[in-house]
Amino acid sequence: MTSPARTHRDVFGADPAGVWSAPGRVNLIGEHTDYNGGLALPIALPQRTAAACSARGDDLLRIHSVQAGETVEVALGDVGPGSPHGWTAYAAGVLWALRADGCEVRGMDVTVDSAVPVGAGLSSSAALECAVGAAASDLFGLGLLADDAARARLARACVRAENEVAGAATGGMDQSAALLCRTGSALLLDCRDGATEHVPFDLAAAGHVLLVTDTRASHALNDGQYEKRRRACEQAAAELGVATLREVPPGALDEALARLSTDELRQRTRHVVTEIARVEAAVAALRDGDLAEVGRLFRASHASLRDDYEVSCAELDVAVEAAEGAGALGARMTGGGFGGSSIALVPEDAADDAAVAVRAAFAARGWAEPQCFPVTAGPPAARDI
Ligand code: GLA
Repeated sequence: MTSPARTHRDVFGADPAGVWSAPGRVNLIGEHTDYNGGLALPIALPQRTAAACSARGDDLLRIHSVQAGETVEVALGDVGPGSPHGWTAYAAGVLWALRADGCEVRGMDVTVDSAVPVGAGLSSSAALECAVGAAASDLFGLGLLADDAARARLARACVRAENEVAGAATGGMDQSAALLCRTGSALLLDCRDGATEHVPFDLAAAGHVLLVTDTRASHALNDGQYEKRRRACEQAAAELGVATLREVPPGALDEALARLSTDELRQRTRHVVTEIARVEAAVAALRDGDLAEVGRLFRASHASLRDDYEVSCAELDVAVEAAEGAGALGARMTGGGFGGSSIALVPEDAADDAAVAVRAAFAARGWAEPQCFPVTAGPPAARDI
């Protein structure tokens, strides 16, 4: 048995019924587009969160986290908007959201062990939600892993857990990535209608590497800044008389900008509309094997997030510049921003140099050492044992 199963036996005094896991993600491009009905292009990471679980016959959730080093008990009847606080909200919230969706769910004993770094912008919270959700689906016979439509329903429950119970107004890309991505592919996610396509993403075959840098700059999605961006986009859409900024075609951008009331709304709108167009361009470039173009789009995306959307930070900018200076075709922040991680598209033979350059740039500024590691596109949430 794997380690979460052993820990489970130590903590709860019985073997788990099984072990489920779900991946973290990096988004290749299409940032802050999901809550605008736009396009995103995430891959599932090899790093996963495992949950050893057993069903209970009552309505108690007992959950132990190896990383938090604590065991918490939550009565499902006490779960709701704003309760519980902290990391347990993501797990308890999923059971609450499944019930709200009409699923018959009872309590569980859960032991969580995660290889997805927390606070690194790699969706550790979605990985936790989706691992617990996958377990609940199997343990209570919900069938929510059966096909993509069922997985999309589970993803929606996980998003409700995050939005309503954990209080982070996130858009849904992360949960879709954890449940719908496939090995060797990026997931082209259309957040207007939920449509998905799998875009082959095998950089090794093309002699390249996707290098992640966890800057270690702290990152939180429920500190108000993320939600402020989201509300600005909603206001811009309202001023333009459209449901979401997705409805602004790139060709109509200048005219739309002229109608907005503030510079802030113009900047946010320009980012969203151009970023959606960059996703389409990146998918075309990947299909054509044109990695130089993908790199160029990474650079443009980062500049837009830094200058127009204003969600980058010094650590992300330095990581991006150092990787590019060491031979990356392009680099960009990934995820919500305000800290977290960047990605760089690097020729295989420059990958070590890029990591060294990023570490040196951080050391020169007296910052904590960042973690640099290559990633490939892994599988979605599943039962492991
Ligand atoms: C976070 C959110 C996602 C998405 C990204 C930005 O990861 O959870 O929903 O909005 O930020 O693209």
